[in-house]
Formats: sequence, C-alpha cells, structure tokens
Amino acid sequence: MIAVAKNVVIKKPIPVIMDCDPGHDDAIALVLAYASPEIEILAVTTSAGNQTIDKTTLNARKVLSFLGSDVPVARGASKPLFRELIIAPQVHGESGLDGPTLPEPRLPESPLSAVELAAKTLRESDRPVTLVPTGALTNVAALLLAHPELKHKIERISLMGGSASGGNWTPAAEFNILVDPEAAHLVFNSGIPVTMCGLDVTHQALVTRADTERFRAIGKRCSTMVAELMDFFVKFHEANFSFGGSPLHDPCAVAWLIDPTIFTTRKAHVDVECRGRLTVGATVADFSGKSGPMNVDLVTGLDLERFIDLLDGALRRLD
Ligand code: RIB
Ligand code: CA
Repeated sequence: MIAVAKNVVIKKPIPVIMDCDPGHDDAIALVLAYASPEIEILAVTTSAGNQTIDKTTLNARKVLSFLGSDVPVARGASKPLFRELIIAPQVHGESGLDGPTLPEPRLPESPLSAVELAAKTLRESDRPVTLVPTGALTNVAALLLAHPELKHKIERISLMGGSASGGNWTPAAEFNILVDPEAAHLVFNSGIPVTMCGLDVTHQALVTRADTERFRAIGKRCSTMVAELMDFFVKFHEANFSFGGSPLHDPCAVAWLIDPTIFTTRKAHVDVECRGRLTVGATVADFSGKSGPMNVDLVTGLDLERFIDLLDGALRRLD
C-alpha cells in the first residue's frame, strides 16, 4: 500500500494467476480482471471442463489477444487427476465460446505447462500471488503437489465453484468441483485461504437481457464482444432455468477481489465428497466449525446492482 498524500491511499494491484476453462463466463472474468486497475494478471493457465483443453486454451488465447493483453498463457491438464473428463458443450457450444467470431489469436501458447508457468510466476513475484481458478481445480492441485515449497507465495485462492445449497450438474454437485473432486479436496485442505464463490452467490449474479443491451450500447469492441457472449450464454439458461437472467458465475471470483463489500461472506469449514454415489463432488459446508478449521470465506450473496455496475465500468475502460 502506498500513501501519496494525507488520507489518500493507492493500493497496489492484486497480482493474480487466472486458471480458466473459457467458457463464456470465464471469458468475461478475464475481461473484468484485465480491465480493472485493482488486478494485475501475471499469467493465465487453462483447464479442461467447459470444453476440451485444446478448445479452452485456444479460447483463452483468442480472448486475451482480442483484449490486447500480452500475458503468458499456458495449457493445463487435459483431464482430471483420477477421472475421465466431462465437458459442457450444451452450455458453451462446440467451440466452448460459441457466439462472437473472434480473430485467430496473436498471443502464442507458452512452451511451459500450466504448472511450470504458475511455479515460475510464483517464484518471480515480489509479492504473494492470488490464484483465481474458474474451472476444475486440477491445475491448482497439481501445482500444490509438485511445488509445496511455493505454497507460501500463494496469498489466497479466490475460486468459482461448489455450493452450500445444492448443485447445478447433479443435485449435489456444482460442475467445476464435480469435474475433479479429488483435486478440489486437496485444494480445500491445503491450508491456503479460500474464497468460495459458489452457486450460493452466482445464482444471484443474474445478468438480464436488459443488462446485455446496456453493455452493447457502450458501443465499443470489447463491450460488443461481451454482449455477444451473453447472447449465446443466455440460451442455455433460459431453456433450463427460470432465474430471470443468466448466472455470471466466474466474474464473481474476480469481483470479490476488486470490491469484497459488494458481497456477503461467511466463514465456514468446507470439504469435498469424493466417494458418494449420489453426492460425489458436493462441497459440504459447516458454519459451526465443529468439523474442522474455518478454511473458507464462503460467499453467500451480493449487491447485484453494484456487480453489474462494476462490469459496466470495466467495459467502458476498454476499447
Ligand atoms: O458451474 C459453473 C461453472 O462451471 C463455471 O465456472 C462455468 O464456466 C463452468 O466452468
Ligand atoms: Ca469456468
């Protein structure tokens, strides 16, 4: 933190590594992080989930190139630690980012793997780094297994995933956790503080068609691209839910870092079910703390108007 004058404090941006499976909401999380002075993206790594690793890696490169970013992008694991991959083309389309036509990426794929790039980034950072996983937690788990000596360089893990109020892919499990429950179990038990932006808050982070038109009316390249992402993203959610809007899951994990006062958060002990026939992938939250350390800041709600305004403000800063 730097004090430049009496009562005026300018906070240094939070250094982050984004680990994502774009995916429409992952893409908008990248846009929000890139356009926010409170965040410095040091590296982007990709996971398999919304689509295959080939497609999510290409999509991450396309979105970051479109933004004009030169951040390194590294490919992560093509499948979960112990399970076969499940993907979600019904939500994100065959490309994983159906809707807008994005140019071929200018940004190359890093020659390093996701774990190698994340480890290099942690080693070289002069400050502890916040991890922002918005897909399955395979890469984060692999990083912690391969480089326990770097745990002290991880400030926090602000993730989209899980739920204390039922699942979206099964009655018990949210998609990101369900894709790789063993990885999630390892991450939640790592001892690193976790901010869990699960369905409890993301099913309140509802973007309406009117919000999409508000973004489109900004009339710039990036705001138009985000509006076109939402045009596609809304199709699955209007056909399958009656939320009255599309839950913008992944940007919550970024927005919480930018302005946590937009959100309500409770301390909880959270662990992950890895064996239940019906409950595998469930994140079991104990707010009493009787079953273990309060390892998670569990996000339970948000001021939706301020969340949408945050997205709008970010889009107005882009070209
Ligand atoms: O359950 C929602 C999560 O699954 C989001 O991260 C979405 O992008 C998908 O990965
Ligand atoms: Ca995602």
